[in-house]
Amino acid sequence: MIASFNLTHFDQVDESPDARTFIEFLDARSGFAGERGVKELEISMLAVAPGNVVLDVGCGTGDDVREVAGLVGPDGKVVGLDASCAMIDESRKRASGSGLPVEFVLGDAYALKFPDQSFDRARADRLFIHLQAPEKALAEMVRVLRPGGRIVVSDPDCDTIFVDSPKYETTRKVIHSVCDQSGSGMVGRELPRLFRHAGLSNIACAPRVLTMDLTLMHRLFDGHLAEPAMAAMFAAGEIDCWWQEAARAEAEGRLYAGVTVFTTVGEKM
Ligand SMILES: C[S@@+](CC[C@H](N)C(=O)[O-])C[C@H]1O[C@@H](n2cnc3c(N)ncnc32)[C@H](O)[C@@H]1O
Repeated sequence: MIASFNLTHFDQVDESPDARTFIEFLDARSGFAGERGVKELEISMLAVAPGNVVLDVGCGTGDDVREVAGLVGPDGKVVGLDASCAMIDESRKRASGSGLPVEFVLGDAYALKFPDQSFDRARADRLFIHLQAPEKALAEMVRVLRPGGRIVVSDPDCDTIFVDSPKYETTRKVIHSVCDQSGSGMVGRELPRLFRHAGLSNIACAPRVLTMDLTLMHRLFDGHLAEPAMAAMFAAGEIDCWWQEAARAEAEGRLYAGVTVFTTVGEKM
């Protein structure tokens, strides 16, 4: 059980009892099967060139900022922005002494404090799902992007979470409650439409299925299912039975669970 972490509270990391649990979640997530492939896909779709100035909105611990900084070279720069002081502190700590051309700023995706057309590339990974109005954040990313620049946004669609469990009804309730409690639980499938509405061109979307094991399922769902509001949705013991079945499936090598992540690219003309 993860003490204070709740997947659906990434919009309020600093208000949580222990912001560290959110950092630990991101570190644990990076070790899971398929995750590296999604990161590589995002970075290839961003098509960063030496000398580019890149913005990473909702940069978390800044690991991607440092990776992209290795591609822009000494004449470029990568700016990581996040609404959480804990994340920005952690990003600065991790980049300290690296000599990479990075900068980390505290800020809000809805109101970027950058001039119009000041970046060659902009990206956001697993941010929009936590926002009530992702279209506003996208409009801000488009505003600060130079003509000819690219935007890449990657998000899961929580309604595509699947768990092969005979307990269909409980599975549906778990998935729908995670989806409904997220800022924009179904934003993954909506990204191409949001990109079109934002006036972007040459839009392409690459859905990828990420599978999860029992450990990742617990990390994802425990905090959320422990919320008092969930008590009304599930019968006494229902969640425990669901977990017991998942544990049996894992022990017998037949657990199959995952989610689709939609990585979308567009260009500003
Ligand atoms: C799930 S994490 C993803 C972090 C990183 N992009 C990654 O892929 O590892 C979401 C991040 O978005 C940040 N965030 C949430 N709401 C935000 C907002 N309105 N403006 C900027 N950052 C925000 C959170 O603090 C958190 O660091």
